[in-house]
Amino acid sequence: LEHRLMADIDAAPDEAALEAVRVAALGKKGAVSDRLKTLGKMTPDERKLAGPLLNQLKERLSVAIAARKEILEHAALEARLSQETVDVTLPVTQRPVGKIHPVSHVFAEIEAIFAEMGFTVRTGPDIEDDFHNFTALNFPQGHPAREMHDTFFLEANETGEQKVLRTHTSPVQVRTMMTETPPIRIIAPGRTFRCDSDQTHTPMFHQVEGLVIDKETHLGHLKGTLEAFVRAFFEIDDVATRFRPHFFPFTEPSAEMDVAYERQGGKITFGKGDKWMEILGCGMVHPNVLRNCGIDPDIYQGFAFGMGVDRLAMLKYGIPDLREFFAGDTDWLNHYGFAP
Ligand code: PHE
Repeated sequence: LEHRLMADIDAAPDEAALEAVRVAALGKKGAVSDRLKTLGKMTPDERKLAGPLLNQLKERLSVAIAARKEILEHAALEARLSQETVDVTLPVTQRPVGKIHPVSHVFAEIEAIFAEMGFTVRTGPDIEDDFHNFTALNFPQGHPAREMHDTFFLEANETGEQKVLRTHTSPVQVRTMMTETPPIRIIAPGRTFRCDSDQTHTPMFHQVEGLVIDKETHLGHLKGTLEAFVRAFFEIDDVATRFRPHFFPFTEPSAEMDVAYERQGGKITFGKGDKWMEILGCGMVHPNVLRNCGIDPDIYQGFAFGMGVDRLAMLKYGIPDLREFFAGDTDWLNHYGFAP
């Protein structure tokens, strides 16, 4: 019997056949089970002899079945692997690829231009305290200049302090001057917030701050730097710009820089035209600000600027309405966005 069953196990061509052999041998009605049933009719002495022999047979068969099973499984896997191949010549299914938002694109362009001029990047928090956003920048308490910025205030904390969503990137000037020693030549890109909304204003917008502090810095450096920037950014030499005198508490003298543009229907073009778009504020850093930040104004001077990134993007890429920048419309992004 053992001989025959062992031969059947070895000959089983696949797992189903092996299972049939197993049932025929060890199943409830199988050959070995039949033999076990005969034990009851034996004398105790016969049983003592036959019982262990049958159990050992059962054990040997089980081991043999398991071994054969492993061989068959392995063979089945090998067979499947040899059949399954990848046809690398099949056409791929195109997955949609996203676009880079114009603001992200323009941030990268601005950073590259200033990097070439030797500026490095600094950042600061979106949620600022009154000191960095206003006081250190020479906005006196209760001064009307604070109301120039339609500030978003946070609820007061336990100590009664009211944080703000920074209204400009200028607090990064303060953070940099307080922690670094001149010469300083940095830009600070980031998000800014003011309670305002129309074609050229959104409650959240973007600025790149610039700050240069050194021993002999003057207005000529400021103008030269910004004009070089505008030429590099718009990629033409004759962009019509103008500096208008302005007031900022943290610079003296102060100015705003405008770029000429025109609107034709739904499109805007930059460089020339009958309209001016303000793109940045700038000026020589006020001595009070230097003092507030631990820098001696008798030794160091400098200039600063803060440019509106979204407006630069509008002008350069002819995008008519600023509010659409942040509407989350994928059709808009597919149209105005940049390939990654
Ligand atoms: N912080 C100013 C604004 O947001 C811009 C500015 C920056 C002006 C630096 C002067 C110097 O309006």
